[in-house]
Amino acid sequence: VDNVCILAGGSGTRLWPASNSRRPKQFIPVHEGKSLLLLTVERALALGTGDLFIVTLDEQIDSVAEECAKLSVGKERIKLVAEPAPRNTAPAIAAAATILRNNHRSDETMAVLPSDHLITPTEAFAADMKAAASLASRGFLVTFGIHPSRPETGYGYIEAGEAVEGGRLVRRFREKPDLGTAEAFCRSGDFFWNSGMFCFRIDRFFEELEAGRADIAEVFSSIEVREPSQRLSGMDLFFRDPDVKEAYGRSPKESVDYAVMEKCRRTAMVEASFIWNDIGSWDELSQVIDNDLEISEQEGGKAIAIASEGCFVHSDLPVALCGVDDLIVVQENGVLLVCKKGEGQLVKKAVETFREKG
Ligand code: GDD
Ligand code: MG
Repeated sequence: VDNVCILAGGSGTRLWPASNSRRPKQFIPVHEGKSLLLLTVERALALGTGDLFIVTLDEQIDSVAEECAKLSVGKERIKLVAEPAPRNTAPAIAAAATILRNNHRSDETMAVLPSDHLITPTEAFAADMKAAASLASRGFLVTFGIHPSRPETGYGYIEAGEAVEGGRLVRRFREKPDLGTAEAFCRSGDFFWNSGMFCFRIDRFFEELEAGRADIAEVFSSIEVREPSQRLSGMDLFFRDPDVKEAYGRSPKESVDYAVMEKCRRTAMVEASFIWNDIGSWDELSQVIDNDLEISEQEGGKAIAIASEGCFVHSDLPVALCGVDDLIVVQENGVLLVCKKGEGQLVKKAVETFREKG
């Protein structure tokens, strides 16, 4: 693939209290002290030699730069794009694509990667991306399908059709169905989860954006940025110019799934050969970390478990567990969360309740 765009602007509440609006989940260290964002950047750098855009909220730019400073190679290929306000994923992707288009590089391909997923092994991911880039250069908007293991309503679904070289045609793309529909999709066998990663040629993306959401496309046609506004920690930083900020602010909010993917007629899918995990809850995060007490030790905390099995601790204060099993204990930002394993989805409710109480 020619270029990569990492989306790093979400404001996840699901890994609360370690994640919050100031520090979304992509910044939490998960593996060997590395954050999901840093792991994503390393994976993206391994894909090729082109530009690597990281699109993020202006207020998170410094945290992103701090993560990138930990890279031993490849930092010079990174181009930071600062969004003045969150407008969801369609505008975020359009921002990076606009820089390429304005530099007369519309015939190049770009992969879009969320910053908060765990993917292994990297080799399988790179091979699938190669297949996707080849489909993209033939004009397809390419998605990566994951075999569904449950009728999840928080994901998009892809109905795969006949085979094309390197993948399958997409009959239909359905973002976030209701439970009944998701159950029917899972029974059918032809439906896959959308992994949230995409690959396309820049000109094809804008064609479909124009067809699906002309109002968003128009905002980005008016943006003339070709060069970075400034440099930050040795990286180019785009979109800080006042007129660009003003234009971006005018963009409607919409996800790429609704604005482009659901409507696009020329979509293909590569069935993922890698293991994919969208770390949507502490349950999932605790499953992907082998040693249950590992996190707290990495971050300088100490945790001990006495007559306790299967607990997961994320805390920089010392924690002692006595005679309890299968608990998730998270202490950060002055908040303590104790949650039974398997009940991680309740955390969202806890966040809301805390917010109501002020
Ligand atoms: N820069 C930027 N700006 N990034 C954003 C913004 C924004 O305004 N909003 C979201 N993102 C980033 C998030 O950080 C995440 O990495 C990615 O874009 C996807 O956004 P989510 O908010 O996590 O989307 P979702 O989980 O509801 O759904 C998407 O992902 C699912 C798989 O995880 C969809 O693509 C679904 O179809 C898919 O199944
Ligand atoms: Mg998500």
